[in-house]
Amino acid sequence: MKHTFQINSLSAYNLAYKKSVEEPEIFWAEVADSFQWHKQWDNVLKWDFKKPEIIWFEGAKLNITENCLDRYLKTQPDKIAILWEPNNPGEPSREISYKELFEDVCVFASVLTNMGIQKGDRVCIYLPMIPEVSIAMLACARIGAIHSVVFAGFSSKAIASRINDANCKILITANEMYRGEKTINLKNICDEALTDCPSIENVIVYKRTSASVNMKENRDFFWDEEVRINSENCDSEYNEATKMDAEDPLFILYTSGSTGKPKGMVHTTAGYMVGATYTLVNVFQLKEDSIWWCSADVGWITGHSYIVYGPLLAGATSVMFEGVPSYPDYDRFWQIIEKYKVTQFYTAPTAIRALAKQHISHTQKNDLSSLHVLGTVGEPINEEAWQWYHKNIGKEKTPITDTWFQTENGVIMISGIAGITESIPTYASLPLPGVQTVLMDDNSNEIKTTKAEGRLAIKFPWPSIARTIWGDHERFKKTYFSTFENMYFTGDGALRDENGNYRITGRVDDIVIVSGHNMGTAPIENSINEHKKVVESAVVGFPHDIKGNALFGFVILYDIEDASEELKKEINEIISSEIGAFSKLEKIQFVENLPKTRSGKIMRRILRKIAEGKFDEFGDTSTLLNPEIVEEIVNRLNK
Ligand code: WT7
Repeated sequence: MKHTFQINSLSAYNLAYKKSVEEPEIFWAEVADSFQWHKQWDNVLKWDFKKPEIIWFEGAKLNITENCLDRYLKTQPDKIAILWEPNNPGEPSREISYKELFEDVCVFASVLTNMGIQKGDRVCIYLPMIPEVSIAMLACARIGAIHSVVFAGFSSKAIASRINDANCKILITANEMYRGEKTINLKNICDEALTDCPSIENVIVYKRTSASVNMKENRDFFWDEEVRINSENCDSEYNEATKMDAEDPLFILYTSGSTGKPKGMVHTTAGYMVGATYTLVNVFQLKEDSIWWCSADVGWITGHSYIVYGPLLAGATSVMFEGVPSYPDYDRFWQIIEKYKVTQFYTAPTAIRALAKQHISHTQKNDLSSLHVLGTVGEPINEEAWQWYHKNIGKEKTPITDTWFQTENGVIMISGIAGITESIPTYASLPLPGVQTVLMDDNSNEIKTTKAEGRLAIKFPWPSIARTIWGDHERFKKTYFSTFENMYFTGDGALRDENGNYRITGRVDDIVIVSGHNMGTAPIENSINEHKKVVESAVVGFPHDIKGNALFGFVILYDIEDASEELKKEINEIISSEIGAFSKLEKIQFVENLPKTRSGKIMRRILRKIAEGKFDEFGDTSTLLNPEIVEEIVNRLNK
């Protein structure tokens, strides 16, 4: 599959970038021309960041799944779309061709239609990393239903709140899932969630294991049964995709906010399609015979864009791995690379750091010579981890693309172009064509000098930007478009070197990136505060050598005498049940009070320093109402 927009030299990158800024509409129209449309657009772009309103390809009609599947039925029906590697090494892998995937998606689309799902309805997907997750997502897109994938590590309460926020009609799950040595009963978690989800009419359950689960009559149906019935009845009319408007929502994906409930980021059809394809093909330099592997989970934006949509849109062969890098041993990733002769491998710094801690022999057993490109995503990669990846996996030859983006952006925004622009350790490097990055100073002015440090913002729309927060456009405006006039604010800080390369320094708000997972501290604090012995709490991030950051909770008790290891466990149990085990606190310190300003705001800056152990870097504490508390907390910590 040749792509007309593939950048193949440094001058081509420079030219593409220049054109994307000077003539953005012509630039994106040319990229969009290579897709299949039912009707051309009337306008390439209309936008107003003040409202904010962003409209790409207005008037166009299309279905994204026709671009993922139908257009390849003629050119490469038998090419493998998904190479699936199971969690359990003894179990057979699965190969699904473009044609087979097309058929599976059409049948499952008819399953959904027959359950009453229509264009615009919301469908919640809570599945492990199995091909059925792609089938379910694409089947929704085929009929214009909006999918909301919830990462299969979230608790029942977290699922319920996401289902209720979007009023999902159907929930798609599995009886059980494998995760390393563990088997997790997803259906039980769903059943618990569903005691509180009035909008759910039906549940579809995929049998991943042989375990039997409770099925509620007339509500719950097995995936295989429904597929069997529908494939018998399936005729060609079912294969027809719903014609969508360019700006019809494609999916909702929740991301944590720095306050309150998670934000359901809404992504729309055409712009997302164009962006996902453009970035994947260019950043990783996909070729006809590439074997692409993104090891993220499909429950995050990386999985949506670079496991499901991007690779299929690009017509590529993509590996999907159900398991974890440590099972059955720490060489699993490298075995998979050898087994499938993976050419481009994309993973998270936290996985790299965890693997780098193991004995080096784990990386030496397998032939990694198929690799042409390595990528990282999700958090800043430290120099040591970068060098380890470069030396032991890339054998000092393979370029590394450090890709920066956010759930809100949909697709990669800042990254090198593999083998074409320079890979600089710890630098995400250059904005991709179409991405107009700026750094803002403390007075909210744009910093014009190239070498600078500031808050990262973007001053022009790109096709795959989220259009709103589901049900809360005001919050969308406030969170992203109110910090700087006429700009999208990322919430990240960044450095820029003299050549214009960006290095992301981390969040400047109350979000902490733990193992590449975006975590709002506010919802975690809310859960802690539910414990009856707790008055108030503050959670901050601190550096952790594997996870990048870990969470430190400072917890005020009604009676400090209640402080105990047992209570720490109870607090983490509440967090697990409210949000998910991956949000647990690494450290907890019980305190009598927290450093607060006169207006009652917790001074988190100080707590971060305490958590880091930097006791002599508190800076100005003169605005504190209770400066003596800082020393008290430090003393407790040392006890
Ligand atoms: C936040 C977004 C990108 C998909 C997964 C996370 C951090 C992401 C990088 C990178 C430094 C990064 C940022 C960003 N981040 N990629 N290459 N270097 N930081 O998506 O959950 O929406 O989190 O992840 O802080 O704001 P997300």
